Formats: sequence, structure tokens, C-alpha cells
Amino acid sequence: MSQLVFYRKYRPKSFKEVINQKITVKILTNAISSNQISHAYLFCGPRGTGKTTFARLFAKAINCEKRKEGEFEPCNKCESCEEINKGRALDLLEIDAASNRGIDDIRDLREGIKFSPVRAKYKVYVIDEAHQLTKDAFNALLKTLEEPPSYAIFILATTEPEKIPTTILSRVQRYDFRRLSINDIVSRLSNISKLENLKINDEALRLIALSSEGGLRDAESLLGQLAIIKEGEITLSDVESLLGSVNFKTINQFIDLLISKQKIEALRFITEVNEGGYDLKQ
Ligand SMILES: Nc1ncnc2c1ncn2[C@@H]1O[C@H](COP(=O)(O)OP(=O)(O)OP(=O)(O)O)[C@@H](O)[C@H]1O
Ligand SMILES: [Mg+2]
Ligand SMILES: [Zn+2]
Repeated sequence: MSQLVFYRKYRPKSFKEVINQKITVKILTNAISSNQISHAYLFCGPRGTGKTTFARLFAKAINCEKRKEGEFEPCNKCESCEEINKGRALDLLEIDAASNRGIDDIRDLREGIKFSPVRAKYKVYVIDEAHQLTKDAFNALLKTLEEPPSYAIFILATTEPEKIPTTILSRVQRYDFRRLSINDIVSRLSNISKLENLKINDEALRLIALSSEGGLRDAESLLGQLAIIKEGEITLSDVESLLGSVNFKTINQFIDLLISKQKIEALRFITEVNEGGYDLKQ
């Protein structure tokens, strides 16, 4: 499998593999094991924190053919689980609201929802980037959320919950996904490196974690890119040059100038760094 797709290869297949998001895991796994499933959920939070991952896990668990009462983990072996893992389950419908945002798209959904699940117990609709839906589309969706068929489950995912109309908000259970800590990201990357036989030092891992702003997808992608371009041990300077970020020594020099209030020198210094082709934001 290509290195670039680390983030897909290492997508959690069970709830216990999900990092952080403790409250969400706790409440929703309880809901699964006690069979108290709601019809509509909203997953909010920054990029790459596990929303889509969790939506698929949830769908897999509630449709798992081998899961016993009182349990919540999907078996990952039955046909229903396998279909979801392979991305070809007919009863898990993922809709990207960024490109299907209009009233017609929601009308199609409302037509389709009349048909019961093909083989599983539940028909799960995941609407990604839900905040992109148009006003009319939201209104049409609202009607469905008011009276969904008993087998239908909606999971709306969004990075911008403030753009979701209150009428929708009042009909969904909301869960907030948090950014991952630097340490969480470092330990995840370090596990992946071991599994992939990659040599990478701790400083390099920390810079990857810092630059990914709490999202694991970007961190895993970056590690994948580095694995392709570098043979042998991956070092801090490999990460710096990929990111276009300056090294810590340079940052120290700049901070020293600020502390000693050498304004002109500080401006000159930052100009040089900028002209050196570095990304100042990084
Ligand atoms: N909480 C997490 N625990 C474990 N892995 C995670 C977590 N969050 C993200 N990942 C990793 O990052 C990848 C992308 O995560 P996912 O697609 O779930 O993000 P998302 O929240 O849906 O992001 P977006 O808003 O960009 O759609 C996963 O395949 C997995 O490898
Ligand atoms: Mg997603
Ligand atoms: Zn199963």
C-alpha cells in the first residue's frame, strides 16, 4: 500500500483505537451497548480529529451481525463489518455536502430513504461538511429529521457548527471532537513508524505534531510524505525543509532581538528569513 495513505491505512477499526474524544466515546458506546440509538447526531470539530472515522465506526457497530447484547465493539469479521471496512456497504451512505448542497440532493435523499436497508438493520446517512447545505436543503432535511423511518440514522459532520441552523441543532444530539494533544500525536506517529519500519527521531516527530494543529490526518500524511522522500533516518531538518519552517535556532535569535528591543535589527532579520523562502507562519 502506498505510504501517502497512512491516514487511511491507520483509520481506527474499533472504538478502543480512537485517540482522545473520551466523552464522545463513552456516551456513544454506552448508547450502542444499551441499544439507545438516536436518529440524528451532529459531530463537530476541527479537521482530522475523528468525525468521519467515528461515524463509520458507529454505523459498523450498530449494523454488526455478530455483536452481542451489551457489547459495543464491531466484530470487523462479519459481512456487514467487512463491507464497511472496504467502503462498499450499501446501507452506509456518505454524502459530501460541499458538492451536493442543493435542494435536489436532499430530495434524492428523501426519495431514497423510503426504501428499507438492503441487508443491514440500519440505513446510516453521513452528511459531511453539513454546514455547506443551502437554506432550502436544510429545510428539506428538517422534514426528514422530524419523522425519520425507524431504520434511518443521520450523522451530520461539520467543522463549522455555528453555520448549522438552530432548527436543525434542536433535532440532533451534538458531540464536539477536540484537537489532539502534541503528545497524543507524537505517540501515534511513533507507533506507526514502528509498524512501518521507519526511523525518525523524537524532535522530528514533535515538529510534525506541532505543525498539524491538533489534527491527526495532516500529521499522518506528513509522515507518509517523509517516508517516501527520505531513505534512512528522518531528522528535524527533513521535516523543516518539507514544511518550509525555520529551525529553532533562528527563532531564538529573533526572540532575543525582540526581548532586547532591537527593532530595526528584528525587522531586518525577519526580512532575511522571509527572503530566504521560509514560510513565516510556520
Ligand atoms: N481521534 C482519532 N483517533 C485515531 N485516529 C484519528 C483520530 N482522528 C483522526 N484520526 C486519523 O486521521 C484520519 C482522518 O480522520 P477523520 O477522517 O475521521 O477526520 P475528520 O474529523 O472527519 O476530518 P474532516 O473534518 O477533515 O473531514 C483517520 O483515518 C485516522 O487515521
Ligand atoms: Mg471527515
Ligand atoms: Zn461485525
